[in-house]
Amino acid sequence: MNRIKISDVLKHGVPGTTITVMGWVRTKRGNKNIAFVALNDGSVINNLQIVFDLSRFDEETMRPVTTGAGVSITGNLVESMGKGQKVELLAESVKIFGEADPDTYPLQKKGHSLEFLRSIAHLRPRTNTFGAVLRIRHNLAYAIHKYFHEHGFYYMHTPIITASDAEGAGQMFRVSVLDAANPPLTSDGKVNFADDFFGRESRLTVSGQLEAELGALALGQVYTFGPTFRAENSNTPRHLAEFWMIEPEMAFYDIVDNMDLAEDFIKYLIRFAIDNCSEDLAFLNEMYDKELVERLKLVVDSSFERLDYSVAIDILKSSGRKFEFPVDWGCDLQSEHERYLVEQHFGKPVILINYPRDIKAFYMKQNDDGKTVRAMDVLFPRIGEIIGGSQREEDLTKLNQRLKEMNISEEEMWWYVDTRRFGSVPHSGFGLGFERLVLFVTGMANIRDVIPFPRTPQNAEF
Ligand code: 4AD
Ligand code: MG
Repeated sequence: MNRIKISDVLKHGVPGTTITVMGWVRTKRGNKNIAFVALNDGSVINNLQIVFDLSRFDEETMRPVTTGAGVSITGNLVESMGKGQKVELLAESVKIFGEADPDTYPLQKKGHSLEFLRSIAHLRPRTNTFGAVLRIRHNLAYAIHKYFHEHGFYYMHTPIITASDAEGAGQMFRVSVLDAANPPLTSDGKVNFADDFFGRESRLTVSGQLEAELGALALGQVYTFGPTFRAENSNTPRHLAEFWMIEPEMAFYDIVDNMDLAEDFIKYLIRFAIDNCSEDLAFLNEMYDKELVERLKLVVDSSFERLDYSVAIDILKSSGRKFEFPVDWGCDLQSEHERYLVEQHFGKPVILINYPRDIKAFYMKQNDDGKTVRAMDVLFPRIGEIIGGSQREEDLTKLNQRLKEMNISEEEMWWYVDTRRFGSVPHSGFGLGFERLVLFVTGMANIRDVIPFPRTPQNAEF
């Protein structure tokens, strides 16, 4: 179809030319002589104004040109007399692809609540807000691949279905073809997964890290970027049951190299959004969060505070703050603690390292003190934890000992342990929650509003 995208028309449309644009009608207003239609085609947040001289268009032609209709319009591009746009289109002909009945089309007016829009997730991309969020989401995904490619990382596709339950990151979803009402049973009355599709109990992965480690120990630097699944019943504005995670894994990196990479990477992504999504960010800044762009710039310009978990606990204890969850050495930090450190105490992102080993995963490198591991969490304003990672335990004996202590079967993990048996080297990595990044960059308040079709407890309709 011979059309010009509205983004191109607004940027370099030449007045005096005849063009065809296609899109969806956002609004129609005017009087009996003239009609103004705002047309959007998703290529950019701004609409193209189309002017209809009603002496040339009869009522029958104009009737289906209503909010939501999908149309093609040919006309003459002219400099605009009105405020707010440089050019507008004087319509010469209009073709209706699909009508949108004004009595039933749900997006008639502006200003629907985000809650309502969640209930029409199939249509909400047609709003300014979700158009902006989805374009920013795309730009961040692109920037992730660009960054890693330019830094010599290889994109590795790790499996989504897995038989290993060893990450310990949370409850997993089972993948099965067995008849739920009538499964085959073993002699002692348990479900017999030997009869299932994979011949063993299988689940959706919570992380691609363990497989990424195998890749890093061959290719040097790899990253994953794919969907991950957690079946925790956490109904918070920062948790999804299905979310996307970016997990770089690097051989010959210690925890300091790991922190340096995490900081450089996330700043690069935010800078990329500032440079490439300015119109969408300006809209979100105006509509939702007047400090958004300011906050993004502050993060890019700051150097992240790095400190030990133990020091953070001292700061929290002597803060004089009453937290909902009390703080003591050994406790897992809640987002109220993380946000206090970032927003109140330091006023910039914080990287915490050397967490108690008892609250962290088996694969983290143990420190000599016998109490802590070389973990790192990157904490962000408004979000709390945005990245979790660590240097990995490369010592076979220590790894095996930790597996035993945590009751993880070595049999199940033989392939992982093998990498410490053959040519083990120091290595590190981390996981960035993609939706938490998009949440931060867009300034939205709820993670359900930064993924097209959120998966949360009791919600997977579309
Ligand atoms: O801290 P997590 O659980 O770390 C891992 O899974 C490691 N395997 C990562 C690694 O070292 N390669 O998760 C990493 C990040 C968190 O910091 C958070 O941003 C995000 O993933 N995340 C979630 N995002 C949305 N919904 C959830 N339920 C999330 N759980 C974790
Ligand atoms: Mg974590």
